Amino acid sequence: MIPDADGLQFLQWCLPRLHLRWPGFRKVRRQVYKRIKRRLQELVLPSLEAYRVYLEHDPSEWGTLDSLCWIPISRFYRDRSVFQHVEHEILPQLAQLVVARRESEIRCWSAGCAGGEEPYTLAIIWRQGLATRFPTLRLRIFATDIDPQAIHRAERGYYRASSMKDLPTEWRTQAFVTIGDELCLKDEYRAAVTFILQDIRERAPEGRFHLILCRNLVFTYFDETLQRKTMQRISDKLASGGALIIGNLESLPDGPWEIQPWLTRLGVYRKALKTQRD
Ligand SMILES: C[S@@+](CC[C@H](N)C(=O)[O-])C[C@H]1O[C@@H](n2cnc3c(N)ncnc32)[C@H](O)[C@@H]1O
Repeated sequence: MIPDADGLQFLQWCLPRLHLRWPGFRKVRRQVYKRIKRRLQELVLPSLEAYRVYLEHDPSEWGTLDSLCWIPISRFYRDRSVFQHVEHEILPQLAQLVVARRESEIRCWSAGCAGGEEPYTLAIIWRQGLATRFPTLRLRIFATDIDPQAIHRAERGYYRASSMKDLPTEWRTQAFVTIGDELCLKDEYRAAVTFILQDIRERAPEGRFHLILCRNLVFTYFDETLQRKTMQRISDKLASGGALIIGNLESLPDGPWEIQPWLTRLGVYRKALKTQRD
């Protein structure tokens, strides 16, 4: 294992060059050390110092190092009170807005969706709690991640029970079938979600969104310059009256975002409602 002092020094050197921030990695640093260690073995390099030299001489290695910093941790119904608020306040209000605009879809974007736990949680909430109240509406979720393995896991839709310990039991029973020691999400819940392999630093899915979830990614791991640039993209993608949810321990960078706090304690913001159709 890489000694903490060496790893720390290395991360503090390389993260700013990747426009990532050290405080975001503090808790997960050992996971990153493990992957770097594996990379050193692949390259047959004896030390982090040698890896630094390698990076200075081969700029293409920075892309690989960037990928070693993707943290795929997630779970269903992560931060229970946020999803309770989504079920009881946010989605019903957005549904009313969409109905008032004579539209038929609530469009959501889950940015940095990992193995699909977050977008599928939205799909479960809608089908179990709200679909019958809004029979003319459809919930469509676009879920993006930079990691091809995460997108593959998400499309496969098989999970360990440990990833859904926060999900209400009756929802778990209705939405999944047990196959061996895994739980497989039923097709009717998958149908709402489209997964896209995409780097949020470069692009976003097509169209505007009534609900954007960007939790435990941009505002934890990106440095301030990259946060601002990405926040501009997110803000442009939010429909008027739409909601943005960030992680409840995260905060937004300063900027002219045209959004107001909705429930800051839970990281929920709302874009100002324009009178004309947006
Ligand atoms: C910690 S997980 C967050 C998952 C989920 N949003 C949640 O809160 O449970 C962060 C995810 O962001 C993805 N990610 C990292 N950099 C990214 C980028 N530049 N563009 C899109 N996704 C990225 C990682 O692959 C990882 O799956």
